[in-house]
Amino acid sequence: MKVLVIGGGAREHTLVWKLTQSPRVSEIFVTPGNAGTAQLAYNLDISPTDIEALAQAARDNRIDLTVVGPEAPLAEGIADQFLIRGMAIFGATKKAAEIETSKVFAKELMQKYNIPGAGSASFADYNQAKEYVSQQTAPVVIKADGLAAGKGVTVAETIPQALDTLASIMEAKVFGAAGDQVLVEEYLSGREMSAFVFTDAHTVVTMVPACDYKPVFDGDLGPNTGGMGSYSPPYFYGPDLAQVVAETIMRPTVKALYEEGRPYKGVLYGGLMITKNGPRALEFNARFGDPEAQVILPRLKTDLLEIMIAVVDNRLDKINVEWSQYACVGVVLASAGYPDSYQTGFPISGLDDLDDNILVFHAGTRAGTGTGQVLTSGGRVLTIVAMGKTIAEAREKVYANVPRIHFEGVHYRQDIALTKRGK
Ligand code: AMP
Ligand code: GLY
Repeated sequence: MKVLVIGGGAREHTLVWKLTQSPRVSEIFVTPGNAGTAQLAYNLDISPTDIEALAQAARDNRIDLTVVGPEAPLAEGIADQFLIRGMAIFGATKKAAEIETSKVFAKELMQKYNIPGAGSASFADYNQAKEYVSQQTAPVVIKADGLAAGKGVTVAETIPQALDTLASIMEAKVFGAAGDQVLVEEYLSGREMSAFVFTDAHTVVTMVPACDYKPVFDGDLGPNTGGMGSYSPPYFYGPDLAQVVAETIMRPTVKALYEEGRPYKGVLYGGLMITKNGPRALEFNARFGDPEAQVILPRLKTDLLEIMIAVVDNRLDKINVEWSQYACVGVVLASAGYPDSYQTGFPISGLDDLDDNILVFHAGTRAGTGTGQVLTSGGRVLTIVAMGKTIAEAREKVYANVPRIHFEGVHYRQDIALTKRGK
C-alpha cells in the first residue's frame, strides 16, 4: 500500500517511521516532511492546508491511505473532502474535529453528557465576560474558543491579569476570530496527563498515555511551547486510573460525538488533569500529540497500518492492539528564542554519534547543500527518544546522548521525566 502522511513535524516523522515497519507498506509520501522523513519517504512540497493540491497528489501517486498529523487540515475539512472523492483518510471530519477547534463546543458537549471537566462559563459579549471575571477569585483560566497555535489558554494568577487577557482576546483580537468567544474556567490543580484512543466511532481502543512538558524552561518556567519533551507511561498511571479515564472520559466522549451526529474516527486526545477528586478533561484534540506521539508510537507493538485501516473500515473491534512494557522518554531540542522569534539555517552535528537504539525524530530540519548535511529550519528541531526497562533508565539513556548533538543556540530541558514533577 502507498501511504501519504500530512505534516512536517517530529510527530509526522514518528508516524512515517512506524508505518515503514508495516510489511504491507510499499511507499510513503509526506507533505511537506523534513530532512528526517526524506530518509524514509518521498517529501512533497505541499502545504498541509492546501486540500486541493493534497487530493491531487494523492490521486497522482495512487495513494491508498492518507494519514493526517496536525489539526489545521482537519479544521479545514480535509477528511470530508477526501471522503467525498472516495479516498481513504485517517482523520476526523470537520464536524467531529470541532471537539478541538471549538472549546465552547467541547465544553457544551461535556456538560450535556456529564463528562467531568472544569466548571466554566462561555461568553460572546465582552462586557458580560468582564463582569463575570471581576466576580471570580484567582487563579482563573481564560481560553479563546478557536485554534490559536497553542497560545489560546492563560492561567491568570490575578483578576487584573485575567481582565487584561480578556481584553486582548475579545477587544484587541490577538487571535482574530478564534477569540469571538471565550471560556472562563475554574482552575484545577493536580497532575497533567495526555490520554489517547483509536476509534472508528464505535469501538474505542485506549493507547498508553504520556506526560507532556509545555513550558520552555526547567521547572515549568517561561512561556508555553508546543511541547519540550514527554514520557510514557506517567509514573502515577496504573490500571485503576486507566479504567476511570477510559470509562468516564474517553469512551463517553466518543459516544457523545456519535449521538450528536458527528461520528468521530481517528485519534482522540484528551488533555487531562488528575485531581484529588479524579480525572478531569481540560481539552480534547483531534490528533496525536506532539511530542507525545514520539514516546507512544515506539511502544506500539501492533502494526499501525492495520489499526488505521481498521479505523477507516469500521472494524477496529477485530484488531488486538498491544503495547510494550518498556518506558519511553523524549527530549525536544529547540532553537534559541523559541517559542518567540528564532534564527534558522544552522548546521546540526552529532547525529551520527548516538548510541544504538536511540531514536531521532526530526521536526524543523532541512537538507543542506553538503552531503548528509542537515540544517535547522524551525523552532522545535529534533526529538531524541530512548526506551528503557524503567522511566529512570530511559531518561538516563536519552540524556547521555542529547549533549552529543549540537547546533548554534541549541536549547533543551534537563528535567523531562524527572518523577518529582506533579503539583
Ligand atoms: P491547553 O492549550 O488547553 O492544553 O492548555 C494549556 C495548559 O493550560 C494546560 O496544559 C494546563 O496546564 C493549563 N490549563 C488549562 N485549563 C486549565 C484549568 N482549568 N485549570 C488549570 N490549568 C489549566
Ligand atoms: N503536546 C501538545 C499537543 O500536541 O497539543
